[in-house]
Amino acid sequence: MHVVKTIESVRRSVAGARRKGGTVALVPTMGSLHAGHASLMAAAVRRYDYTVVSIFVNPTQFGPQEDMDDYPRPFESDCALCHELGVDLVFAPTAQQMYTQESSTWVQVVGLTDVLCGRSRPDHFRGVTTVCTKLFNIVAPDVAFFGQKDAQQALVIKRMVRDLNMPLAIEVCPTIREPDGLAISSRNQYLDPEQRREAARLYQTLQTCQIQIAQGRRSAAALIASMRDELQQIPRAKIDYVSIVDGETLIPVEEVRGRLLIALAVQIGPARLIDNILVDLGPS
Ligand code: PAF
Repeated sequence: MHVVKTIESVRRSVAGARRKGGTVALVPTMGSLHAGHASLMAAAVRRYDYTVVSIFVNPTQFGPQEDMDDYPRPFESDCALCHELGVDLVFAPTAQQMYTQESSTWVQVVGLTDVLCGRSRPDHFRGVTTVCTKLFNIVAPDVAFFGQKDAQQALVIKRMVRDLNMPLAIEVCPTIREPDGLAISSRNQYLDPEQRREAARLYQTLQTCQIQIAQGRRSAAALIASMRDELQQIPRAKIDYVSIVDGETLIPVEEVRGRLLIALAVQIGPARLIDNILVDLGPS
């Protein structure tokens, strides 16, 4: 496995793989790799000839009050995991390498980014789509892998790729959970043991909602109210949003039918945690 820091070296390595006729997969990450990333990397390695993992804590997707400086950067153990999983190339650029001082171009998906996480993180998705465009242009992969845990991010990236005719496929892999249901995230390590116990209740809340839907409850407002009630029982939780939206457009629904995303964001102590489930009730 090679670890490279410059755009030229990643292009040279990928060109070498292409000359041998290989397919190329990209797993974009900000490092602090966990079982969720491992599942993306394992799928990429299994199905494509040459897997590139990018590790870059992208400054343009953090707001001024967010955790950019504290974001964990365990580079050695990240590389060890990539190596163990059979990744071919780690691309770990510096911020100067990715953004020159004169950078003045943004890639922005409108509409889909105004809702859910976009409300409290107004410039976040613009940073994500810009850095992913740059990574797609640098690596030129056949496919890029994302996790369903960041459901809105995955939809925004898919929309960007479709709208801008980018020549790659986007694969979205299922959320990986701890045994108690908590969606695995780099930010879980900010939680103390009590907060960590509380955090498991987010997924339980989503599951209760799913059960209520299975029992025939159809009013989105009533389901949201009951999820909010459940989350308000968690002593240290501050709800950012609880939403039931169309699974493609992210437009809020009044009545539960078709393919829906049930999504929430909750601050527990220092960690802003997000989670979601997809519910498919068949053709509406
Ligand atoms: O999901 C992430 O870790 C980041 O948003 C991504 C896609 C690597 C872009 O920086």
